[in-house]
Amino acid sequence: MRFSYAILGMVGFALTDTAFAALLQPMLDGGFVERDETAIWFVPVAIIVLFFIRGAAGYASTYYMAWIGWAVIKQLRSEVFAKYLTLPTAFYDEASSGELISRITFNSQKVANAASTALTVFVRDTLTSIGLLALMFWHSWQLSLCFLIIGPIIGIIVGRVSKQFRKASRNIQESMGEVSHVIQEAIDGSRVVKIFGGQAGEQERFEGANESNRRFNMRETRIRALNVPIIQFLIAIALAIIVFVASGGLLGEDRLSPGQFMSFIGAMLLLFAPMRRLTSLNSQIQQGIAAGESLFETLDLESETDTGTKEVQAPVTSLEFRNVSMAYRPDKPAVLNNVNLQVKVGETVALVGESGSGKTSLISLLPRMYNHDSGDILINNVPVQDYTLASLRGAISYVSQDVVLFNDTILNNIAYGSRETLDRHTIQAACKAAHAADFIEGLDQGYDTMVGENGIMLSGGQRQRVAIARALLKNAPILILDEATSALDNESERKVQQGLDTLMEGRTTLVVAHRLSTIENADRIVVMKLGQIVESGTHAELMANDSFYSKLHSLQFS
Ligand SMILES: Nc1ncnc2c1ncn2[C@@H]1O[C@H](COP(=O)(O)OP(=O)(O)O)[C@@H](O)[C@H]1O
Ligand SMILES: [Mg+2]
Repeated sequence: MRFSYAILGMVGFALTDTAFAALLQPMLDGGFVERDETAIWFVPVAIIVLFFIRGAAGYASTYYMAWIGWAVIKQLRSEVFAKYLTLPTAFYDEASSGELISRITFNSQKVANAASTALTVFVRDTLTSIGLLALMFWHSWQLSLCFLIIGPIIGIIVGRVSKQFRKASRNIQESMGEVSHVIQEAIDGSRVVKIFGGQAGEQERFEGANESNRRFNMRETRIRALNVPIIQFLIAIALAIIVFVASGGLLGEDRLSPGQFMSFIGAMLLLFAPMRRLTSLNSQIQQGIAAGESLFETLDLESETDTGTKEVQAPVTSLEFRNVSMAYRPDKPAVLNNVNLQVKVGETVALVGESGSGKTSLISLLPRMYNHDSGDILINNVPVQDYTLASLRGAISYVSQDVVLFNDTILNNIAYGSRETLDRHTIQAACKAAHAADFIEGLDQGYDTMVGENGIMLSGGQRQRVAIARALLKNAPILILDEATSALDNESERKVQQGLDTLMEGRTTLVVAHRLSTIENADRIVVMKLGQIVESGTHAELMANDSFYSKLHSLQFS
């Protein structure tokens, strides 16, 4: 419906252009030459009516095309965003977030705009051109042929000029980038510049960038300043030729009246703008297609596989990794090799090992952040991929070293994902257990304090305790802690550890620890090296031997 309004508007707009050019004839011949009474009244009224229609039609086509365009943009954005939420973790590892953001914000807009502009230009300007050309031929086919020969030549020259113009603009942008780059380096590196005496060199570098920026700007100005006079001059030549042909008696019997001639010239002048837009239509469409390609590629990406149908049944009694191997990409070496690990209900198993030994990789397989390549990961003797993702992940709580907080209140951060179903008291109880209640209640707005972007208003230890409260609230049977206290100083680590101890009670826990002091009490310690489990036992057992663990231990405590 709206689409037909838009098209109707375009048609109306196109018709009025032609009608206006046609109107020039009765205006001059009737109104001025013959002083015909009807023409004297008819023409002014017609002008007003025409421009009223033109305005209404222009409004309708612009408004309704924009309406459709924005509806499409909104739809595209929602679909791409929805896709983002379901993509596998590996996708985010490789993509740049800036690029992903601009796909939603910028590309979607570009596609829809290109499409609606292209359509508008195509319908409106094609119709306008046809109407005007028809009018011209109706007045005089000989003059029209003249125009058809001269017109394209002008078009080609104008095209050349605008190409130069675009090139110049691009050069300016690049050289401006270079200028800021030099400035930024000089400011950021000011100490190095001073100590190593780089002032002269920096000045020279800046001089170069500064000068080329000036030159590119002047080139653009020259093209811009030449652009209008050149086009006008070319039109003047065309006009001169046509005036000569029309008035020089070359047309013989087909000579035009003054009104017809003005109407012809009017149509010709009105024709330039739509013609120019039609010739740039292709590049518009190309831009839209380019922007659309990456959007539709995104929409075509494979979502996380979620083909399991089972639900994790309440009590979780066992957890097992059986011969598990995994590589992040098929062309990369495996980061986990035949890992075997059994965890009993309520047990706390600590994973230790050098950085890069595969601890994080191993635990991220459990909630299927990544998929393992071979072997089995079993919860209650059922492979994890047989569970629905929602149920599997619902059974697992997770606290990592870098806590993610949303720019929202503390309350909403803690209750993230379950805000609707929880009352304030439950949330406060979780905070008490996480040893977070004291500091939260000390804040000006308590639980309603906004934490700022990524929790910037909170200290590391406070953020960590908010994350623990969130994990507590989830009350999941399986708990994963990945270096949850590594980034903290001793004092906040002590507080966070108290919170963690509460959290671990009665849960099956996998804990990755950097500081070995924090896991001495674990039921079992598993040592990883190069993607394999090399030792396992209690702290006392492992310390008794000349084990890898005891070496790690003495390294940390010497
Ligand atoms: N997202 C990833 N993509 C590709 N390779 C990764 C990724 N994460 C970790 N790795 C690689 O896997 C290996 C094990 O890393 P990780 O499991 O993080 O070790 P740890 O947690 O023990 O320090 C390392 O060689 C690391 O470079
Ligand atoms: Mg890690």
